[in-house]
Amino acid sequence: MGTQDRSRQGGPGRTPRPRSGRADADDDDWGGEPGQRDSLTDVPGGVRLQKVLAAAGVGSRRHCEELIGAGRVEVDGEVVRRFGARVDPKRQIIRLDGKRIPASEDLVYLALNKPPGVVSTMSDDRGRRTIADFLGDHTERLFHVGRLDYETEGLILLTNDGELAHRLAHPRYGVLKTYLAEVPGPLPRDLGRRLTTGVDLDDGVAIVDRFRVVEQVGSRALVEVTLHEGRKHIVRRLLAAVGHPVSRLVRTQVGPVSLGSLRPAATRQLTTSEIGDLYAAVGL
Ligand code: URA
Repeated sequence: MGTQDRSRQGGPGRTPRPRSGRADADDDDWGGEPGQRDSLTDVPGGVRLQKVLAAAGVGSRRHCEELIGAGRVEVDGEVVRRFGARVDPKRQIIRLDGKRIPASEDLVYLALNKPPGVVSTMSDDRGRRTIADFLGDHTERLFHVGRLDYETEGLILLTNDGELAHRLAHPRYGVLKTYLAEVPGPLPRDLGRRLTTGVDLDDGVAIVDRFRVVEQVGSRALVEVTLHEGRKHIVRRLLAAVGHPVSRLVRTQVGPVSLGSLRPAATRQLTTSEIGDLYAAVGL
């Protein structure tokens, strides 16, 4: 699963230990106060909750027991304070501090920095390079979340979590995407206002949620555009329509996930925290 990310998961809390003193405690080990027992039914043959959290990259099992004891972990909407609760990580929804944990070890969440000259598909009958060429030994059946144009660079998310992929790409959830575009300058002062007010395109008005001039040097400018639209060539068409055709386009952000310093053609696993934020962005 994702790389470890303990940034949000630290904090003091009590440090209840299992009665047995063993790290992997018996099923009825109990980290809560009397009267705080949950009504969660243990899943026969299930995996201990602290083990699931640790495997998801939340922290050591000991740290996960502390989180459970502190009442910060929910299973299917119910706070569970028992260290030994047995759960089914493939079917149950586990949250830490309200944020969903990617508990199933079968699920993969990747970010790819797509280089230019690559089609956003897994295969191409014309023999062009595809995003599958950059996935190395990730043989799981991955879905790419949306597409970038052949020449557009930057962040593409990939996952085998079908429901998450579907929602991230669905216009209904309006996930924001941010792009850096190189365009000819100089830029008129009212460009941002025009883009955020709405621009008439062949297939209807398109509205930019945020616009910022990053730099202007001579006759070239770099602008940042954020929008929740997913229509084909939308950024290129928008900027061309206002007289600033794009010469280079890079997607730098999808919802809560940033491209950051990921090198072109490289992939990285999303962190546990990023995955939780993606779930939250689409109401999962
Ligand atoms: N808008 C575009 O014009 N191209 C892309 O690849 C993505 C958004």
